[in-house]
Amino acid sequence: TARAAPGGNSEAAWAALRDEAMGCQRCPLWKPATQTVFGEGPVDADMMVVGEQPGDQEDLAGRPFVGPAGQMFDRAMAQAGIDRSRVYVTNAVKHFKFEPRGKRRIHAKPGVGEIDACRWWIEQERGILRPRMTVALGATAARSLTGKTVTISRERGRVLTLADGGIGWITVHPSYLLRLPDKIQAEEEFARFVEDLKGAAAAMA
Ligand code: URA
Repeated sequence: TARAAPGGNSEAAWAALRDEAMGCQRCPLWKPATQTVFGEGPVDADMMVVGEQPGDQEDLAGRPFVGPAGQMFDRAMAQAGIDRSRVYVTNAVKHFKFEPRGKRRIHAKPGVGEIDACRWWIEQERGILRPRMTVALGATAARSLTGKTVTISRERGRVLTLADGGIGWITVHPSYLLRLPDKIQAEEEFARFVEDLKGAAAAMA
């Protein structure tokens, strides 16, 4: 497959795609959200990491993985020895879905309809980047990339072929780690997450 050339046409194609995504109304999530949160990172990245959807902080900042889950992800990537600046990060769903509760906005899980509506964008991103390895963080990303409902515990930590023929790897979502109430279990699960990321990097070597 052709690789994206840094600074070449693919950079321009990516920027045009991102600009177009800013006006996306493919599903109703655009309306209450602040803005589209598009993917970011080098267009010639070897690794693409796909999350679920922007959270509260991402929605406000307009950038993926800047909130608590993003910080957990950054820490895991550093421990796995993967250069985060060389990785393209994006989300299966590009608007924040939430339920207002007083002044707070509570994360709501995107449905299959929203995932499927938003898949168009990730297909375009993937067409431009053509990453050698794609890591799905959690069930929403896995659903978007495989087109199937995936049980993370069964599919994690090994190479698989994605719906578009790309090479994929499934692991947990960092927000799952943030929700674990037991400290020991949280540490064990974080270590497993790091091992999964290492495995994904090793699989593309
Ligand atoms: N969780 C995600 O899945 N993506 C983000 O961008 C932030 C939090």
